[in-house]
Amino acid sequence: MTRLQGKRALITGAARGIGAAFAAAYVREGAAVVIGDIDLARATETAQAIGPACSAVRLDVTQQDSIDAAVAETVQRLGGIDILVNNAAVFDLAPLVEITRASYDRLFAINVSGVLFTMQAVAKQMIAQGQGGKIINMASQAGRRGEALVAVYCATKAAIISLTQSAGLNLIPHRINVNAIAPGVVDGEHWDGVDALFARYENRPRGEKKKLVGEGVPFGRMGKAEDLTGMAVFLASAEADYIVAQTYNVDGGQWMS
Ligand SMILES: NC(=O)c1ccc[n+]([C@@H]2O[C@H](COP(=O)([O-])OP(=O)(O)OC[C@H]3O[C@@H](n4cnc5c(N)ncnc54)[C@H](O)[C@@H]3O)[C@@H](O)[C@H]2O)c1
Repeated sequence: MTRLQGKRALITGAARGIGAAFAAAYVREGAAVVIGDIDLARATETAQAIGPACSAVRLDVTQQDSIDAAVAETVQRLGGIDILVNNAAVFDLAPLVEITRASYDRLFAINVSGVLFTMQAVAKQMIAQGQGGKIINMASQAGRRGEALVAVYCATKAAIISLTQSAGLNLIPHRINVNAIAPGVVDGEHWDGVDALFARYENRPRGEKKKLVGEGVPFGRMGKAEDLTGMAVFLASAEADYIVAQTYNVDGGQWMS
């Protein structure tokens, strides 16, 4: 299929997991993709596995120099940027009375500031190109409501829903659509880490939390990264031109809004 034929995309945090599945799906749809990730070795491996239309660049979304350099490198390689997916994020959990400033600062630096300033750098490029663009931010069902042990991560994802609304309204006059995807629980290395943290704080055997959350999904199982690619391709395509500032749940029926 060729719904993204000729389009040029930067996807952050796509060395593995959901972002890697998006990179592969975009290439299948005809796009050229640069993966920007702090783990350059893994990003390079992933890009090579996807094929010649995909390459990797080192990107630390907490550092403005790194954002500017990765955007400039993407423009140099591809000739411009039509699609940005702000996908890089990290997770942590702790009871409220044990949350550390270090954890708070790290999560907000990557999950919120990283998204805002990458969006800003790419929006400047898209405005200069004068042909609009598509920006997709990764939110989460965690941004829809609080969770007892997950205050900070939930707050970062609520911030993404809000930033998507404001940026969407601000950038649509330039024909840049900003929207977000809110996944539920998606199996992979991210959730292996989440499961390990719940095992520690809820005193469970490893794997139990994952099993329970999977059973709790109305669809009947945890999501797979590939369950999200349809929405990611759609929001990046011309079919989504009239969609502005929205966050879409792709979560097997967990959250209704
Ligand atoms: N997996 C889920 O259940 C789930 C659910 C809801 C939302 N999400 C969101 O979807 C997105 C992708 O999730 P995933 O499961 O693929 O995560 P993941 O942990 O597998 O991948 C995250 C990637 O981000 C990269 N990264 C970390 N810090 C970075 C930095 N400072 N700069 C650049 N890259 C950095 C990592 O190297 C990694 O490749 C995230 O925004 C996540 O919050 C995931």
